[in-house]
Amino acid sequence: MLIQRKSEIGAIQAVGENRLKPITMLDLKSEFSLFEDRVRTAIDEVLDSQHFIGGSHVGALEQEFAKQFDVKHAIAIGSGTDAILVALMACEISAGDEVITTPFTFFATAGCVHRTGAKPVFVDIEPDTFNLDPAKIQAAITSKTKAIIPVHLFGQCANMDAIHDIAKSAGLRVIEDAAQAVGATYKNRFAGALGDAGCFSFYPTKNLGGFGEGGMVTTNDDALADRVRQLRNHGQTDQYHHQFIGGNFRLNTMQAAILSAKLPQLDSFNTRRRAIAKLYDELLTDAPSVQTPRIAEECESCYHQYSILTDDRDNLRQHLTDASIGSGIYYPIPLHLQPCFQYLDYSEGDFPVSEATAKRILSLPVHPMLDDADVRRVAGCIVQHQSETIPAEATGRS
Ligand SMILES: Cc1ncc(COP(=O)(O)O)c(C=O)c1O
Repeated sequence: MLIQRKSEIGAIQAVGENRLKPITMLDLKSEFSLFEDRVRTAIDEVLDSQHFIGGSHVGALEQEFAKQFDVKHAIAIGSGTDAILVALMACEISAGDEVITTPFTFFATAGCVHRTGAKPVFVDIEPDTFNLDPAKIQAAITSKTKAIIPVHLFGQCANMDAIHDIAKSAGLRVIEDAAQAVGATYKNRFAGALGDAGCFSFYPTKNLGGFGEGGMVTTNDDALADRVRQLRNHGQTDQYHHQFIGGNFRLNTMQAAILSAKLPQLDSFNTRRRAIAKLYDELLTDAPSVQTPRIAEECESCYHQYSILTDDRDNLRQHLTDASIGSGIYYPIPLHLQPCFQYLDYSEGDFPVSEATAKRILSLPVHPMLDDADVRRVAGCIVQHQSETIPAEATGRS
């Protein structure tokens, strides 16, 4: 009898463990199994060549990337951060200039503006796309403004037509922070081909992640491309002849070879992310207190993140954690409230949409290795949490 009960307990535990299989924000090991052979071959090629800086792998990645995203030039850079920095430098942004961007982004966007000597000027976001609100840009333009950096946050392009109209009439450069938007489109054109320059990140968690740091600058402007190429190599025009002060912004050969091996997989991964997002959209209609992301009609998101809004964010997050489901908060503190930007003299209340979003946002697992059952479990957990915490009449459910 006792033995039987023990085995029953074991079975129940097994089911319990099975039910609690962790659903993580990333599953890079499973992804790796899909292109492991290609990557190992690429790494071997680099090892055999003993050529670790520049070389044919870097050139090949640049050509493949430019072709895939329909842009004239792609210039491989050591990180997404340096891609933004070098694009700003190539546009000759420097001390005394102002650059408009969003406070609701990863730090690097505004950090790079500061590092050129220019001043970051923040403009609030739209409440449903989380991207720069074009209606608020004009008021932030001064005689010192030189550029706008729209960030295609979570994989959805900003409202580029409206931003271009403003930039054109004020004579401003547009530098896309496309770090999260590789493969995203706006009016059927790819992110990175929509402004004067586009800046990508290949940080390992990105939709196209390297095995270390990596980035890319894209542009259709020949002169800008030449300038970025020179700046990434200490402003060198000929060997040991330095026309400008640049830096070491080069992508290493090993990363280039790995990224080339991974690039063919990107399309199917992004397609899977879109299918997951669609399923969340459908399932979360059963949780009306949760606001699902709005994708503008002219955009196709690559869903770097699938981010919902809810007033009960922290409790919901704990509920998901208790069910072994990962989630993320991108970003908890808007940049105008970061201590390092105190000198800009912003205060709480200046960008109310960004501030409210930072308190309510929660990103759910959306990586391409999730199956539909995983997505149903995440959505089910959210619906269950809502039914336990919010009275049915408040949500309008019967
Ligand atoms: C919006 C945004 N901008 C810039 C970056 C900087 O890229 P990296 O981490 O490759 O330097 C990132 C990624 O981390 C990002 O998400």
